[in-house]
Amino acid sequence: MSKSRRKVVFITGASSGIGQACAELLGASGHTVHGTSRHPRANGAHHRMTVLDVTDEASVQRAVASVLAAEGRLDVVVNCAGFVLAGAVEDVSVEEAQRQMDTNFFGVLRVCRAVLPAMRAQRSGLIVNISSMGGAAGLPFQGLYSASKFALEGMTESLRQEVAAFGIEATLLQPGDVRTNVRQYRERARQSGPGSAYKEAFERVMNVVESGEGAGIAPEQVARKVLSLVERERVDVRYSVGHLAQRAALVSKRLLPARTFEHIVMALHGLSRR
Ligand SMILES: NC(=O)c1ccc[n+]([C@@H]2O[C@H](COP(=O)([O-])OP(=O)(O)OC[C@H]3O[C@@H](n4cnc5c(N)ncnc54)[C@H](OP(=O)(O)O)[C@@H]3O)[C@@H](O)[C@H]2O)c1
Repeated sequence: MSKSRRKVVFITGASSGIGQACAELLGASGHTVHGTSRHPRANGAHHRMTVLDVTDEASVQRAVASVLAAEGRLDVVVNCAGFVLAGAVEDVSVEEAQRQMDTNFFGVLRVCRAVLPAMRAQRSGLIVNISSMGGAAGLPFQGLYSASKFALEGMTESLRQEVAAFGIEATLLQPGDVRTNVRQYRERARQSGPGSAYKEAFERVMNVVESGEGAGIAPEQVARKVLSLVERERVDVRYSVGHLAQRAALVSKRLLPARTFEHIVMALHGLSRR
């Protein structure tokens, strides 16, 4: 790859799943990749790993500064770090909700604020924010996860318009189910156990969610989509990647009456009205 086409890429949450697949594919494709994890990790065959916790402002600033010191520029950021908080909205404490937002939303905000001065100075850059189908539709028993991704969607739409004059682009990618370690990283609201009024429905829905994730697409498929965005001249507001049925569901949200769409989502999760 020619030097001018080789991009310096920064990927959060690169120790697992989508972020790791992106780091491996973009690195193997000739880009200079710095991946991050909260813990010290060995470098990959084609990418370096840096310690970063997206919930810690100083850690974000340090990691971005170290990449800029090493490379002198930063062309692409892929915000992948995230986790799912599961539980009925009523069972989620405000403290748990704040932790969900702190990683999935404020974490992305911290990274964007840290990289934008360098991108503005070089008058170019691309930010890819990994959203979710849960960022397009409220998912039952993942209400705070959906809230974090809806917030990410709104912020990214605004950001795009503000940074366009500096030659910077931002985009959203909404994956459907992907076979990653999302299950191990998932947190359950403390009050969702015995004693919860939602326990039976919650467990039923989690079974549907977990079997969907197990049958999801490979993270490498998401990475191929990210690579195609990185190598594109211009990016659109949002893209989706996943099984056809899940991408079709996103389209149907725009076409169907809201209540009809909600009925379908509930039925797909094994829920019905009283
Ligand atoms: N899997 C799916 O079905 C799916 C579907 C739609 C969207 N997504 C989104 O895709 C992204 C990646 O998900 P995944 O399933 O590939 O992930 P995953 O396999 O569950 O791995 C999560 C990654 O996030 C990192 N992480 C978690 N908390 C962090 C923090 N506070 N600071 C820095 N890094 C942190 C973890 O790194 P360390 O623990 O090493 O720090 C790990 O690399 C997430 O934003 C998720 O919402 C996933």
